[in-house]
Amino acid sequence: MPISASDFQYIAGLVRAHAAIVLEPGKEYLVETRLEPIARKEGYESLADMIHVLRSMPPTEWLHAAVIDALTTNETLFFRDFHPFEAMRQTIIPRIIEQRQQSRQLTLWSAACSSGQEPYSFAMMIREAFPQLKDWIITIVGSDISTSSLARARQAAYSQFEVNRGLPAIYMAKYFTQKDGLWHLKDEIKRMVQFRNQNLLHPWPLIPAWDIILLRNVMIYFDIPAKQGILRRMRTTLAPGGYMMLGAAETTLNIDPSWKPIPYGHTVAYQTC
Ligand SMILES: C[S@@+](CC[C@H](N)C(=O)[O-])C[C@H]1O[C@@H](n2cnc3c(N)ncnc32)[C@H](O)[C@@H]1O
Repeated sequence: MPISASDFQYIAGLVRAHAAIVLEPGKEYLVETRLEPIARKEGYESLADMIHVLRSMPPTEWLHAAVIDALTTNETLFFRDFHPFEAMRQTIIPRIIEQRQQSRQLTLWSAACSSGQEPYSFAMMIREAFPQLKDWIITIVGSDISTSSLARARQAAYSQFEVNRGLPAIYMAKYFTQKDGLWHLKDEIKRMVQFRNQNLLHPWPLIPAWDIILLRNVMIYFDIPAKQGILRRMRTTLAPGGYMMLGAAETTLNIDPSWKPIPYGHTVAYQTC
């Protein structure tokens, strides 16, 4: 049975309040297709029954978290969009290396890392293109609101389809082993990345001043006040001289004027003004 207007409004309000994700009217099919499997698995007669129970529980219960998790969009791939990784490899990382000769530390936060392809791409690139960093302290943190995506990220086992999307053959041969139909990332790269559960709307206890923040393909789901709040806090967590990168369809323009876009060929990085 199609979701009622009032149930849709309740679910849209829940994900907006807890994850900043905006579900406009017209997305009813998305709610139905993503939540019906949960309702079935939990033994409810219908999605309406499950939403009835959700409405009667405090919004901190695990079922709410499962619903929010199911409504996140976790699409990602290795070396997504290619150009940001080239800009990091050719210009951004060499600049940071120059600046950090004293501390010999480099930090990157992938702030909505989904199933891990983004921070692992960075880790492989560091191993492959910057052998001089072998004895540096490299801190790479991936965080996400979705516990199911984080579980996959920690497992670091990808399907043939996933490794075919964006992963150069040389990286596949060097850093993955194939077992039971999946491609398993080798420990030497896995160990370079730590994962955390982090809702971007909540306080960020992640400590370092980051040299690079990847905030890619997540703010597209948020409304303007949520974007502004996150960009304001990103300013204070970026190291002096650090860089932030957004998704190809995202920008700080008309949202937060205190970021300076710096074009690098087909991509843009941002620094604080
Ligand atoms: C489309 S994926 C982007 C993954 C990766 N950054 C990329 O560009 O390929 C968006 C990710 O944002 C996460 N997300 C959505 N709302 C969030 C929030 N409020 N806090 C943290 N992560 C969130 C989702 O769980 C999802 O994994």
